[in-house]
Amino acid sequence: MHNSKTSSFSLHCLVNGRKIEREIPSSHSLIDFIRLDLGLKGTKEGCGEGECGACMVLLDGKAVNSCLMMAVQIEGRELITIEGIKGKAGGLHPLQKTFMAEGAVQCGFCTPGFIIASEALLRRKPKATLEDIKLELTGNLCRCTGYEKVLSAVEKAIGK
Ligand code: FES
Ligand code: FES
Repeated sequence: MHNSKTSSFSLHCLVNGRKIEREIPSSHSLIDFIRLDLGLKGTKEGCGEGECGACMVLLDGKAVNSCLMMAVQIEGRELITIEGIKGKAGGLHPLQKTFMAEGAVQCGFCTPGFIIASEALLRRKPKATLEDIKLELTGNLCRCTGYEKVLSAVEKAIGK
């Protein structure tokens, strides 16, 4: 609910499986809500203008750039950040394991975004091909790895 006197908004949503009700500044972007209001620092802000994918999160199961949305847009919706990505038994997610095993992480700044984008693809298309993976990851930039190891990490997570 919007409160015009204070320019605040009473936001209700599901974050990483938990119901959240929070009074937030109406002006907060989704990435501000995640990092500043919730203190979840795994989601990174790179470019701040939709170019790099470092800020990706799952919104109702789809990957979105959280720097391009306002927090108020997630009222009543389900948000999953990198902190909510887990394996079925609660340990590391298969993508997290294959990223580590393949050496697809160097500085790690881009990694949460790559994991989120890859997870969105594998939920939608569990038997994704290398071409599907390349296409899906076109919105994610990495300055360190040269992409080959990222692509093989995602391929190796298929079916796991
Ligand atoms: S920080 Fe959002 S796309 Fe770069
Ligand atoms: S591992 Fe450094 S930007 Fe990708």
